[in-house]
Amino acid sequence: MNKNYKKPRSHTSFTKLIKLFISPVVLVAACTTTHTWAGDRDNDDNNGQNRHNKYQIRAIKTSDYTPVDAKKVALGQAFFFDKELSGNRNISCSTCHSPLAATSDGLSINLGEGAHGFSVGRNPGFYPPLPTDPLERGQRNAPALFDRGAKEFVTLMHDGRIELDSSPDGFLTPAGDELPAGFNNLLEVISIFAFTEIQEMLGQAYENDVSAAAAAQGSVFTPVWNKLVARIKAQPNYRPMIFAAYPELKGNIDNFTIVHVGRAIANFQNSAFRTALNTPFDRYLNGDEGAISKDAAKGFKLFTGKAQCASCHNGPFLSDQKFHAIGVPQIGPGFGGVGNDGREDFGREGVTQNQADRYKFRTPPLRNVALTGPWGHDGAFDMLEDVVKHHLDAKKSLNNYDISQCVLPSRLDLDALDFIATNNPNTRYAIEQRIEIPKIRLSDDEFKELMAFMYALTDPEHLDLRHTVPKSVPSGHTLAD
Ligand code: HEC
Ligand code: HEC
Repeated sequence: MNKNYKKPRSHTSFTKLIKLFISPVVLVAACTTTHTWAGDRDNDDNNGQNRHNKYQIRAIKTSDYTPVDAKKVALGQAFFFDKELSGNRNISCSTCHSPLAATSDGLSINLGEGAHGFSVGRNPGFYPPLPTDPLERGQRNAPALFDRGAKEFVTLMHDGRIELDSSPDGFLTPAGDELPAGFNNLLEVISIFAFTEIQEMLGQAYENDVSAAAAAQGSVFTPVWNKLVARIKAQPNYRPMIFAAYPELKGNIDNFTIVHVGRAIANFQNSAFRTALNTPFDRYLNGDEGAISKDAAKGFKLFTGKAQCASCHNGPFLSDQKFHAIGVPQIGPGFGGVGNDGREDFGREGVTQNQADRYKFRTPPLRNVALTGPWGHDGAFDMLEDVVKHHLDAKKSLNNYDISQCVLPSRLDLDALDFIATNNPNTRYAIEQRIEIPKIRLSDDEFKELMAFMYALTDPEHLDLRHTVPKSVPSGHTLAD
């Protein structure tokens, strides 16, 4: 256990349970890693082959991922789609990470428990809201889950607040030493954290037994996990799957814990949403020049050369797994940044408490990127072209942001918060000052080639993920949203 970790005032903490009744201001988490961009570039080398070796952009191998076990995958699939694991039994992981919306939700910023409908049709209800409608939007874009079971993902979340570290249990999380022992990898760990988010899956303290236990015991972690485990133990339909996945329980449900839940859900994600071997791009990387279009191949050369993309988007999944400030416009209610207007998202700084990390977000992987919009940590861009153009002249894009580009289903009181940061010239100036990427000029043809490369990163097997949706879940809840 990680005894030295100072328990942060995280946005998943009990602080927020109280805060929500008095103010929408949210506090953020603290820990210690910093990263800098080496500005690594290669302008003299005109050979694309050498460049992608330099950036370690190579075909994906099975050994890139932690191994999966079929019986845990089956159990994890049930948990991933089962609303029984949310306080008000009204939302599951799949609501925000739906295989029918490329493992995300199609919205700029997620709408959590209490909202209605599915994917881009999901909405917060009418104004004035009913007591069961959501009190607020989420704070960030729900990321796609492709390849998050790969070992190189050493930090998860846009700000990396769930990460590997050198503590005895190996993980740094907002739960501090409440994190139970027994996890094998980071995806298993993160898979128990949406349960503890009031806005995402937990619900308000007065609404259900799980959140009431959190309020009574002063923590959104252990009491929540214990209550949810009790719910699953009380479902006889789950037992055969649980005992098949975990023979070490020897048929005794008493020893079933939240760690078993997290491990199973991670196995499911790591199996269902893993890029196939030998996608067209991987075949290209292995020497089959005709596997992607000529334009896409030229786009790849630009990506590793003139356009300088690979200095951050590198490795087999096209992420350096580090944090950078690229000036994406900030929309939505914010993440409790206490800057110019309190509607900002300071990104990595919220985790490290290091001002040098302000507005830095983890470089997203780009496999399947054409499927995973809207793009950016807050989904500010609903067109892939626009987020790529943003990189080429981030300052201009930030200051000329067109709010019609985002997907934020309307409700009067929520709408009022959405553009405070982006309409504030001081906030925009502060964000602009941190931009790390240089302005890059591409001809129209070059831009088209770069876009052709973005589309060539799609795994054809991930165009249709309907087979990953179960027909039903053991609790009997519907799968409709
Ligand atoms: C209400 C919407 C919502 C629900 C429900 C939800 N998530 Fe998420 N998920 C998000 C958002 C938003 C983020 C990014 C949060 C951040 O960076 O602060 C995220 C991040 C993640 C990540 C990290 C991805 C990355 O690239 O860093 C994983 C993995 C994940 N969720 C899995 C799950 C699982 C498993 C469940 C169910 C137990 C779940 N989520 C339920 C919205 C949701
Ligand atoms: C300095 C590092 C850096 C460079 C160079 C860079 N990117 Fe990015 N890229 C990022 C970061 C960080 C984000 C996420 C920003 C955010 O969420 O606020 C991002 C986001 C993206 C996204 C949206 C992905 C998503 O899932 O939301 C795409 C597409 C993208 N980059 C493509 C490119 C292309 C194409 C280039 C070259 C023209 C490039 N990037 C150069 C760091 C970089």
